Amino acid sequence: MRQHFTAQHRNGGACVSATDLRMEYDTPAGRVNALDGVTLAIAPESSMAIIGPSGCGKSTLLGILGGLELPTRGEVRIDDRVISAMPDRPRAQLRRTSFGYVFQADNLQPFLTVSENVALQAVLAGIADDPERDQRLLDALEVGSLGHRFPDQLSGGQRQRVAVARALVHSPRVVLADEPTGSLDAESSNKVVDLLLRLHKQEGTTLVIVTHDTAVAARMDATVQMRDGRVTA
Ligand SMILES: Nc1ncnc2c1ncn2[C@@H]1O[C@H](COP(=O)(O)OP(=O)(O)OP(=O)(O)O)[C@@H](O)[C@H]1O
Ligand SMILES: [Mg+2]
Repeated sequence: MRQHFTAQHRNGGACVSATDLRMEYDTPAGRVNALDGVTLAIAPESSMAIIGPSGCGKSTLLGILGGLELPTRGEVRIDDRVISAMPDRPRAQLRRTSFGYVFQADNLQPFLTVSENVALQAVLAGIADDPERDQRLLDALEVGSLGHRFPDQLSGGQRQRVAVARALVHSPRVVLADEPTGSLDAESSNKVVDLLLRLHKQEGTTLVIVTHDTAVAARMDATVQMRDGRVTA
């Protein structure tokens, strides 16, 4: 029997596309062009790796694709909705329900336990609380015995796996993961990618993963290479 780790509802993955994205940051040292005309499209239910040297704009791109930041110029669409032009409230609602994020820093809530961190995401996404489902997901990521612990009682790799559980619990249509295996050894890294890909295949989640690991990138349907704020391949 197929084992369900996440919330069961869903309408499959979404098409994510970006047109001529530019992102400029004004800093005391001058203007930084973090993105300099990025255009790409991720087909619904497909997976994509974003690779490139440090500082080339990968996290900036992921944040804009996920509606966390607005680009200086350009457009982001989730299916037919222009997320980069949505007012704050509906955009926040879309973020909570349709996206799962794994940030480069894990961003777990420090005053909530592991289980509570996962359950909170489900509640924010508007789905029913289901401790058994949450436990299955944590078990699948091999952090199932740590549910009662607080984030600062975990190793970096354990926190990273909890962050993956939190990103997946509500069966989002799009999962955006920024270096989700950065602090994991090869074996744990493989398991996290296995789980991301299993959900991607079972539920049609659209998966975008930033990684420095070419072995991880090779497991995705497509790879986008970035350099200096541009897509080069
Ligand atoms: N909030 C910000 N304010 C000013 N500059 C920023 C900000 N965020 C990113 N940058 C700059 O934008 C550029 C792209 O940063 P980004 O974090 O997207 O790179 P990255 O490819 O994710 O790098 P890494 O692999 O090290 O995580 C860098 O030059 C960075 O210094
Ligand atoms: Mg980054």
